Amino acid sequence: MSRKILVTSALPYANGPLHLGHIIEAVQTDIWVRFQRMQGHDCLYVCAEDTHGTPIMIKAQSEGITPEELIARVAEEHRAAYQGFLIGHDQFHSTHTAENRYFTDLMFGRLKEAGHITTRSVRQAYDEKAGMFLPDRYVRGTCPRCKAVDQYGDSCEACGATYAPADLIDPKSTVSGTTPVWRESEHLFFSLGRFEEMLREWVRSGSLQESVRAKLDEWFSTGLQDWDISRDAPYFGFEIPGHPGKYFYVWFDAPIGYLGSFKALCERRGLDMPSYLAPDSKAELHHFIGKDISYFHTLFWPAVLHGSGLRRPTAVHVHGFLTINGQKMSKSRGTFITANRYLELLPAEPLRYYFAAKLGPGVDDIDLSLEDLTARVNSDIVGKLVNIASRCAGFVARGGGKLADRLPDPALYAEFTAAAPRIAALYEQLDYAQAMREIMLLADRANQYVDTHKPWALAKDPSKAEETLGIATQGINLFRVLMVYLAPVLPDMACHAAGFLGAPLSRFSEVDSPLLGTPLAAYQPLAQRLDPKVVNQLVASPAATTTAAASGEPHVTIDDFSKLDLRVAKVAAAESVEGSDKLLKLTLDLGGETRTVFSGIRKSYTPESMIGRHVVMIANLAPRKMRFGVSEGMVLCASGEDDRVYLLSADDGVAGGMKIS
Ligand code: MSP
Ligand code: ZN
Repeated sequence: MSRKILVTSALPYANGPLHLGHIIEAVQTDIWVRFQRMQGHDCLYVCAEDTHGTPIMIKAQSEGITPEELIARVAEEHRAAYQGFLIGHDQFHSTHTAENRYFTDLMFGRLKEAGHITTRSVRQAYDEKAGMFLPDRYVRGTCPRCKAVDQYGDSCEACGATYAPADLIDPKSTVSGTTPVWRESEHLFFSLGRFEEMLREWVRSGSLQESVRAKLDEWFSTGLQDWDISRDAPYFGFEIPGHPGKYFYVWFDAPIGYLGSFKALCERRGLDMPSYLAPDSKAELHHFIGKDISYFHTLFWPAVLHGSGLRRPTAVHVHGFLTINGQKMSKSRGTFITANRYLELLPAEPLRYYFAAKLGPGVDDIDLSLEDLTARVNSDIVGKLVNIASRCAGFVARGGGKLADRLPDPALYAEFTAAAPRIAALYEQLDYAQAMREIMLLADRANQYVDTHKPWALAKDPSKAEETLGIATQGINLFRVLMVYLAPVLPDMACHAAGFLGAPLSRFSEVDSPLLGTPLAAYQPLAQRLDPKVVNQLVASPAATTTAAASGEPHVTIDDFSKLDLRVAKVAAAESVEGSDKLLKLTLDLGGETRTVFSGIRKSYTPESMIGRHVVMIANLAPRKMRFGVSEGMVLCASGEDDRVYLLSADDGVAGGMKIS
């Protein structure tokens, strides 16, 4: 029976690039969606940008652009990265849209009407200079317990203590650097506790992983707290109807963004939305998320859905975190691999296969070992899978270009197709790792078949032409079955293989009958070996790779270095440049001498934030004529993979003009 399934992955925040942690989630989801379609189910996949909240507002401010500009730019980058990894969203939307506002207002209205919303006054840190309330993360100070300096307002990284920002010693706002004051403000709360019975029932009936269920029991036993769903202006988000100056907290409208995105899809395709969302809907709703956001998805979200008269999720599938070579991804260690960096170096499918080979049904962390990636892809995809096709294709071509009319070993073929239900069950249960193992065992069997029957030896004897073609036909058909099983993981390769086979690879049921008597297209290599040198560049910083590659000689002599006149300069004036969204025009004071420099730092710095700063400049760079004027030097910055630049600054006590040596 055909199922109707709506699937989501978590909405990435619209304030930074996607990294491979985001990608593993998208790949896990995308494989499941493609698999469902190959079973003949009607499966839709939606996602969106998560655009609201303080971090996005602050980041836009620091870049001197509007939040709308920021989220539009980031959305384009995210879209390209997902496409590069062959993630087939039916709709990739945004939470800052009319569709999302529609559902947010609708659901809030219903919750309020049903008495699930209360108001209460909250005391919170307030930055008088910036004129805003501060989320806990934006207050830093000394830990009240262990006295470690510069700790976040909610917890100490040194001793693990958790506390309120008001408990910090010498608290400072990270927005303006000033000492915050404490102010009262009215907030709106969602009464989560009223849903405990409903949630317990949902947990029993729904399909949650064992460890997720255990976590929920823990949360039930510590008691469900009311949830603060409002924030004060200034805030980038949706203003709450009937509560001027109050905005929905980003985590209130973010999951609703799943529905907003789905609404846009329904409108585009003329789908019947209520049949998916009504409380008695027969359609399924599946969310894929990382373990850090399960509280939101297994407590708040089902409660908010239920409280607003909508259906609850069928399942929330939680995955662990991606580590790189055994360590947490980290910018400073160079293991923060962005999606774009990966795609600059390598094709998507090897990583999709590797992730599939590592993803089990549990919530354990998943390690990407670069050495293992190379070894597995070269051995499984190139050495086993593609090898079957490439060994057999030539014999079909020489035998007339058409497959034989019958299989010499139908029993072996039947063995391959008999694995379909088992492999389907593994995909369904998200045990991709086991599915890949079983598929590769079959690939070994197919290679053994070819090895045993040695078509290359038979081909030398013209009287054995028919037999040779038969063996090649058997091999190609075994390859075809495996390619069908792998198509959810390797959609591009499946597409090329379908071209070669002259038959689609889009349903598991296609393997029920073998391909016989039909022509094959000319064989083109279906996959390339990974070069460990290229794979290793994933963790080298891009700056380091380009310098070494460009010069071929990584050293400069002390004489080369002393040619640079590096100086400390004080920024006397700064302004944006009409007609350029990259440049700031800086007037630099070198202690008596003034220089004009155009610097490409606008995306990370506002003109106001530059004035009075000490920067490092190359003073003897040949003047360059630009469209906007002459630039008389260069200001030094560090750039990472997060699409920001970071000015190098000088220590206290230096003055404009000092020489750097
Ligand atoms: N915007 C929220 C989600 C809102 S959903 C209504 C958010 N965004 S996120 O960009 O921080 O994370 C998006 C998803 O990526 C989450 O499911 C998160 O768990 C996942 N991951 C982020 N880093 C990850 C790894 N290192 N490894 C695996 N998944 C990770 O949370
Ligand atoms: Zn501490």
